[in-house]
Amino acid sequence: MRSLRVDSDSPEQTQLLGSHLGRLAHNADVFLLVGELGTGKTCLVQGIANGLAVEEYAFSPSFVILREYHGRLPLYHIDLYRLEDTGEIASLGLEDYLYGDGVCAVEWADRGLEMFSGDSLLVSLRYMPDSQTRRSICLRPRGERYRELAGQLALITGINAEIQDG
Ligand SMILES: Nc1ncnc2c1ncn2[C@@H]1O[C@H](COP(=O)(O)OP(=O)(O)OP(=O)(O)O)[C@@H](O)[C@H]1O
Ligand SMILES: [Mg+2]
Repeated sequence: MRSLRVDSDSPEQTQLLGSHLGRLAHNADVFLLVGELGTGKTCLVQGIANGLAVEEYAFSPSFVILREYHGRLPLYHIDLYRLEDTGEIASLGLEDYLYGDGVCAVEWADRGLEMFSGDSLLVSLRYMPDSQTRRSICLRPRGERYRELAGQLALITGINAEIQDG
C-alpha cells in the first residue's frame, strides 16, 4: 500500500481519525503532519492524544516547539511553524525525542524534513474547494511498520478509506 486517502467532513471526523492512530500507535512511532494553516493538524493531534488516553487537552504549542503529554505512551507534540530557519532545527535536540520512548507528532514537518529521514507516516491535510469543513487527508507510509499501520487504519475506517496503488 502506497497511500491511503480519507475525507473528513468535520473537526470531529479528523479527531476520530487521529484517535484511531493514537490507539494503533507503538513506541517510537513518528507522524509527520503537513498542510496549510488551519487544515486541521492540531485537531488530528488532539485525536492522537485521545487515542493514547492522554487526559490533558492537546493544543497548538504557541511559543514552544515541543510539548509532552502523558498517556499510554508519551506523546511529543512538535510544531515547527515558528522555526526561524532550517538551520535552527539542528540546535533543538529533537533527536532525543524521535524514534525513542514515545510517539512523535510533528506539525509543519515539511520545515524540517531532513531531520525526519527515518521511517514515518506522512499525513498531508488539504482544504477541499467550496467547503469550510471538508478536508482531504492523505496518509503515506514510509517503511514496513507504517505500511502495517496504514493497513490496520484502512480496516478500521472502512469504506471512507480509499486505498491507492494496491
Ligand atoms: N474537517 C475538518 N478537520 C479539521 N478541522 C476542521 C475541519 N473542518 C473545520 N475545521 C476547523 O479548522 C480548524 C483547524 O485548526 P487546527 O488548529 O487544527 O489547524 P492546524 O493545521 O493545526 O493550523 P496551524 O497551521 O495554524 O497549526 C479548526 O478551527 C477546526 O474547527
Ligand atoms: Mg496547529
